Amino acid sequence: MPTISKNIEKLLNNQIEKEMNSSQLYLAMSCWCEDQGLVGSSKFLYTHAQEEMQHAHKILKYVQEAGGVAVIPGIKEPAKKYASFKKVFEDAFKHEQDISSSINKIVEATLTAKDYTTFNFLQWFVSEQLEEENLFRSIIQKIGMVGEDKRGIYLVDKDLGKSIA
Ligand SMILES: [Fe+2]
Ligand SMILES: [Fe+2]
Repeated sequence: MPTISKNIEKLLNNQIEKEMNSSQLYLAMSCWCEDQGLVGSSKFLYTHAQEEMQHAHKILKYVQEAGGVAVIPGIKEPAKKYASFKKVFEDAFKHEQDISSSINKIVEATLTAKDYTTFNFLQWFVSEQLEEENLFRSIIQKIGMVGEDKRGIYLVDKDLGKSIA
């Protein structure tokens, strides 16, 4: 008998899709930034896109290991253009908040189903979401501090590039 129920399997497959879409979103943001000459942010977002794909694979492997079948979703096209440098990170922050609530909903479902194995598996994602929300929140705060003129953007961009070097 599989460890996960059909319902939990479905929720996890849904989350795989969300993580892959996150990866696509950050990749698109990375390309937009590079096109604007924001090399540091581009690198930062590119790395982040790779992390999101790793999240998707982490869930994929778990679904398979727990006796379910992972579903590979089709590719969804994210937005190509962003109104401003700050908007990129505001969108990213909002996106991470949505992802957190999605993870929390699955956690809730595992408790209802008394699926403590998946509950335990998801704890890594719960902590990860706290980190990611804080990360994007801190970038928005930084932009708020230095301002959105060219010099301010240059400083934050450089800082973001350094953060992944
Ligand atoms: Fe993620
Ligand atoms: Fe994320």
